[in-house]
Amino acid sequence: MQGSLVAISDLHVRYEENKRIVKALRPGSNHDWLLVAGDVGDTVADIEWALSLLVDRFEKVVWAPGNHELWTPPDDPVQLRGEARYRHLVELCRRLGVVTPEDPYPLWEGEGGPAVIAPLFVLYDYSFRPDRARDAQEALALAEGAGVICTDEFMLHPDPYPSRPAWCHARLEVTEARLATVDKALPTVLVNHFPLVRRPTRVLHHPEFALWCGTEATADWHRRFRAVAVVYGHLHIPSLIYEDGVPHREVSLGYPREWQRRSTAPGQLVRILPEVAAVRSGG
Ligand SMILES: [Fe+2]
Ligand SMILES: [Fe+2]
Repeated sequence: MQGSLVAISDLHVRYEENKRIVKALRPGSNHDWLLVAGDVGDTVADIEWALSLLVDRFEKVVWAPGNHELWTPPDDPVQLRGEARYRHLVELCRRLGVVTPEDPYPLWEGEGGPAVIAPLFVLYDYSFRPDRARDAQEALALAEGAGVICTDEFMLHPDPYPSRPAWCHARLEVTEARLATVDKALPTVLVNHFPLVRRPTRVLHHPEFALWCGTEATADWHRRFRAVAVVYGHLHIPSLIYEDGVPHREVSLGYPREWQRRSTAPGQLVRILPEVAAVRSGG
């Protein structure tokens, strides 16, 4: 029996209700691979709890970090910051057998394949800013004036980089170089916590929040790197859009107050490959 490539993000297991949903996640077959597009939890212990449970159930688990994994919350005994925290999580994943952006990209050879599965970590650089803001500083001031400020400003430390954009630009450089080495005969599935294109942020309730949602630098990556699908989360607005014919899927669970309002059951894994033909015709 061939498996499916399925995805979810924004498990936010700090919430007991979300923990219960994660406990109930099951593959449809013994050969399913699970893509986890970030925001598993805030503390290292919570992240370890969720990923170890999932890695026991799925044939392979692939993880890309969200902003929440990169926070240094005051209640976490692990007080590592920035790059050191990310490296600590990569080591944790390796111990568990979870694939990270630092590992060789695995090849999906199940139905809908072959496709190179590339988990990415590229962060954001405040380039999703309104036209009237000339630079990131002006955009941040406008957002602050509107009362919108992401908790990352206080909890996501970029050490040893001087700023979050500087960390983002370093990540863009290494990630582009990695993606350029992928066999050009093979398509990819790009997995990133943040959307790779700006369009999905246009529907945000607070448009200023787009600043913390990605970078213009990845706008053409689905074309340049031959994506058959882009998987992301962070917005907590599950959706499917097509860019140049490539599906971009937001696959978040989100906070209980968010999923409790939706008409669909929470914790549904989203099938990425094989692609559902009926859904494609609707895009
Ligand atoms: Fe999230
Ligand atoms: Fe997020």
